[in-house]
Amino acid sequence: MNVLQVKQRFGIIGNSPLLNRGLEVAIQVAPTDISVLVTGESGTGKEIIPQVIHQLSARKHKEYIAVNCGAIPEGTIDSELFGHEKGSFTGASGSRQGYFEVANGGTIFLDEVAELPMQTQVRLLRVLETGEFIRVGSSKVIKTNVRVVAATNENMHQAIASGKFREDLYYRLNTVPIQLPALRNRQEDIHLLFRKFAHDFADKYRMPAVKLTDEAVILLSQYSWPGNIRQLKNLVEQLSVIETSREIDEYMLASYLPKPTEKVPILQSQANAENFSERELMYKFLFDMKKDLTDLKKLVLEVLTQGIGVPLNADQTEVLNRFYSEVQTNGLSSYETSRALPTLSDHQISITKPVDNFEHHEEFEESLSLEDREKELIKKALEKHRGKRKYAAAELGISERTLYRKIKEFNLGFL
Ligand SMILES: Nc1ncnc2c1ncn2[C@@H]1O[C@H](COP(=O)(O)OP(=O)(O)O)[C@@H](O)[C@H]1O
Ligand SMILES: [Mg+2]
Repeated sequence: MNVLQVKQRFGIIGNSPLLNRGLEVAIQVAPTDISVLVTGESGTGKEIIPQVIHQLSARKHKEYIAVNCGAIPEGTIDSELFGHEKGSFTGASGSRQGYFEVANGGTIFLDEVAELPMQTQVRLLRVLETGEFIRVGSSKVIKTNVRVVAATNENMHQAIASGKFREDLYYRLNTVPIQLPALRNRQEDIHLLFRKFAHDFADKYRMPAVKLTDEAVILLSQYSWPGNIRQLKNLVEQLSVIETSREIDEYMLASYLPKPTEKVPILQSQANAENFSERELMYKFLFDMKKDLTDLKKLVLEVLTQGIGVPLNADQTEVLNRFYSEVQTNGLSSYETSRALPTLSDHQISITKPVDNFEHHEEFEESLSLEDREKELIKKALEKHRGKRKYAAAELGISERTLYRKIKEFNLGFL
């Protein structure tokens, strides 16, 4: 079967060379038992690839099971995948076959594979390498012959670096990679997909299909589509149902497109991933510099208030006075005080005793403590996202890995 036939049979729309390449690879590896890892942003159409592979293989008459690893609770996923024996955990009233047993001779699609908990990753690696597994609560080794296709929209290298995903398992799953392009990288297909969905929804809702003006087509093709084909499909459905006019102009269309700045945080965090460490270093540098400057000003003030024992000439006094008035108007970061600073009169060199104003200023510690601020922000972010570190990290603009480190460092693990 060639790419064109596969597209027709599976209802896959598009002529982008990147899409064609992905389909070619799928066709080539289908008859083998090689593991395939499908990557691509959310909504790029990853779910069709394992189906193509299964249908074009000798396994097509056996089971095809799609498992969304991100949707199964951590406590039951081992039992779902590998089965369990009666009484192996609370509520296990009978024994049960897992997907790896049911799909013997067939194909399992592990969607969102990066979400698999560690202990499941260990079991999965074993079944991939030896074809053997053990039901939860059992000690009997069971043999199975399953072909695995996995998919993810995560950056797997990042997941490995942060200790979330086993490197050996990644290489085992990724024997052949298939990468699906983001919709913004296949602009030539956007209008094509629009028309296909417009006709589908016209059928579904029994009304004429919506169509776009030329200007609207331009807008459609230039939009960034952070949610890819899924977002486009939803948009066409909304237009079909909500708009009374069947001709959509660029203004109507624009009102359905979220502004590019409203991207979902996860995409932003991925895009900026490389810049994190550099940005963090930069911040640290700036804060250190600010601290130095503050120390310097403090020193000058000390000299000023405690006296240096040598008479100053008119020029020197003027310089100091200027510095003084600047501090009074703009404040001094570590000495910000509502109380007025003493003024220097001509030729007056020392304000004999240390000025009380500067002795104990409460804000002194706080404004210098980057650490306290950081801790406070991290706490807030974790609370806001109810402990979901992924989202807290995205909001803080740091990597998940850095967040883990900081949680440890600040003892915030209880949040
Ligand atoms: N090439 C395509 N032609 C037509 N529809 C597509 C195509 N790719 C994806 N879709 C549709 O877009 C939606 C999202 O695809 P899906 O495979 O669920 O994305 P992913 O798993 O990558 O997030 C589905 O409704 C799917 O049918
Ligand atoms: Mg999906």
